[in-house]
Amino acid sequence: MIQIKNNVFLLKNENISYMFRVTKDGNLEHLHFGASVEIDDEDAFAVRYGVGWGSTGGPEGEEFPMYLPMEWSSLGRGDYRESPMELDQEIPAAFKYTSYKEYDHTVAIECGLPQAHGDAETLEIIMTSPSQMSLHLFYTLFDTAVTRRAVFRNETRGSINVEKMMSSMMDIQGDYEITTYNGAWIAEMQPYRAKVGMSGIVNESTTGFSSALHNPGFMLSEPDATETDGVVMGFNLIYSGNHYSRVQRSNEGLIRIVQGISPVSFDWLLGPGKQFETPEAVMVWSASGFGGMSENMHRFINEHIIPQYWHNRERPVLYNDWEGCMFDFTESKLISLAKKAKELGCELFVLDDGWFGERNSDKAGLGDYNVNKKKLPNGLSGLQKKLGDLGLDFGLWFEPEAVNPDSDLFRKHPDWAIQSDDGVTVLGRNELLLDLSLPEVRDYIVENVSRCIDEGKVSYVKWDMNRHSTALGASAHRYILGLYDVLRRIFGPRPEVLLESCSSGGNRFDLGMLCFSPQIWASDNTDAVERCRIQYQLSYLYPLSTIGAHVSATPHSQTLRDTPLSTRGNISFFGLLGYEFDLADLTPVETDEIKNQIAFYKKYRNLFQFGSFRRLKAAEGISMQVSGDGTAVAGLFHELVHAAPGYERLYPRGLDPKKVYSVLSRRQLLNATKFGGLLRHVLPIRVKPDGAVVRTAGKIYRMNDAVRECDATGAALMSGMSLNARFMGTGYDPGMRMQGDFSSNIYVITTEET
Ligand code: GLA
Repeated sequence: MIQIKNNVFLLKNENISYMFRVTKDGNLEHLHFGASVEIDDEDAFAVRYGVGWGSTGGPEGEEFPMYLPMEWSSLGRGDYRESPMELDQEIPAAFKYTSYKEYDHTVAIECGLPQAHGDAETLEIIMTSPSQMSLHLFYTLFDTAVTRRAVFRNETRGSINVEKMMSSMMDIQGDYEITTYNGAWIAEMQPYRAKVGMSGIVNESTTGFSSALHNPGFMLSEPDATETDGVVMGFNLIYSGNHYSRVQRSNEGLIRIVQGISPVSFDWLLGPGKQFETPEAVMVWSASGFGGMSENMHRFINEHIIPQYWHNRERPVLYNDWEGCMFDFTESKLISLAKKAKELGCELFVLDDGWFGERNSDKAGLGDYNVNKKKLPNGLSGLQKKLGDLGLDFGLWFEPEAVNPDSDLFRKHPDWAIQSDDGVTVLGRNELLLDLSLPEVRDYIVENVSRCIDEGKVSYVKWDMNRHSTALGASAHRYILGLYDVLRRIFGPRPEVLLESCSSGGNRFDLGMLCFSPQIWASDNTDAVERCRIQYQLSYLYPLSTIGAHVSATPHSQTLRDTPLSTRGNISFFGLLGYEFDLADLTPVETDEIKNQIAFYKKYRNLFQFGSFRRLKAAEGISMQVSGDGTAVAGLFHELVHAAPGYERLYPRGLDPKKVYSVLSRRQLLNATKFGGLLRHVLPIRVKPDGAVVRTAGKIYRMNDAVRECDATGAALMSGMSLNARFMGTGYDPGMRMQGDFSSNIYVITTEET
């Protein structure tokens, strides 16, 4: 609901509200973002100032000092904090409130930027400057989020250069810490938490894309906020290009938050009568700690960001051939993998890189779309037909935004690639970016990708992008608008094609891409233990339905870690399950184990993908839970095992305290080879720990790990359910968890009480 009274504006629903007012001088004073309040609460929030501080400035005759909390600020008027906007004008424009408009829906962005959709109300605040410029601040209220964006209109007779234009600016009060997510290729989402100080913290990417270096999402939390208590706010930007946010504390204790496109190399020439629209900034709030904030953010993304067709639509269990085959495959190899994938329970077969042109390594072929007939003599449609006969859908990899210099496309159109002006070719993974601001480049991509999708009856596309570039300079924003245009033209008419975006893993994990692709490949780091950490950190800002997470081979190709198959599966359950290694290597017992994993995931798929997600308390390791409709599934993940382990408990959350629940741990199997020389103590015959007998037994036989069963009330379970003791070498008991390094367990908690 939008309420307006005596120049006070309130956007409010039962979860959240946003309030500001227009001062006598036409400035916008921020009052409140947070709990649902009433319009008459204005007085409780407004800062009560007496006299000005020495050396503060402000427009003569105006009553509103520039050190107060604001919704937008103009340069040159005494506000020395971060400014939301810079133009190349000699005299800075002073924007003052003139009017407002209300809408009972979202208001369409005209320039092609993606935006949140669905039930919402919008308030447009119009501010003008005497020099014929206007600023339109859009506030949209969703059930668990508020979004903001700004539109600048040049109503003068000349052109104006926009040098910096943020989507939103807000000054809040309180003591907050900021958490940003930084990283690199195969090391995404490393949290950095710091107190918000007076120099401020900048979270910015300048690689041309949102990047794994600095994810656009961040959080502000009260210093003592926990998973369940305290105020936590989540922020993000619906944009995939260079982003910028700064959170800065003023001497008066106000925290200014700006969010928008990075001003680095940004330059937008705005002709007379033209407008510049910024991407939408997202804000959520919760007084129930990090968990409450995540839940609100997940709900917002699942309902208002993900394309409508994929709302609550279950995602297939897939097999991807990349880590198993790389560039080296034939149709018959793919079909034998597909047969095995089908036997395991996979629903979709994804052919990754290497199917087109002379693409036998990452040095050639990118940009070409002719099928490599040596590998696929029957083309895409021939392969799809065979997969279809097996009962598998067909998915295909593309990297449409880049080109190898060794490709027919580059030889024909070298001018389509983005290069630096000194003639030196700067490659990243042997690639150059194509200039997506050129209509002919966009047409080429749209025609070729669409043709391949249609020819191959492709039901899933992995859209990769492995080249980052600061060479985009001022055209970076045009590139991103070009990318959105291409995505819209290809997938708009094909909503049922499931798009998974990828950028060397999680190099473009952002809300802009999620508006087109319901899921994103979380990381090229497919080591289960490493990716567990990445998934866990992603969970703060993104729902599990968006996180592509596959089971890979062990020892792992990047870390050489040997992780039990049970843990590799258990971790992938808390994301979108897939398998990505050479299935020909599977032993009979591994085949059975994977069949069980897939059957288990399918049974609880809706919960894993769309259930309400919680991070749980754990004395050691990571614990997570999904739940809904009387069932919860919790996972407990350990890293290194310690001798003489203490007693352990599981702390599920969100159960009904009065109902009785049954807990059952998921059946897990143990490979006897794990016990090495210890086998001598339990077997009647003498065997060599690494000998042929034990190795052969390991391929066909597994021991059952201990099962935990318990019936108790929700109140008891939430107080901490005791877990089976862990093996520690002093003896064996069948009720013991035989856990080594990187072990994990899954517990299913159900109630039949209604
Ligand atoms: C990138 C992706 C991988 C894979 C390769 C193929 O690295 O992140 O998943 O698709 O490209 O070249």
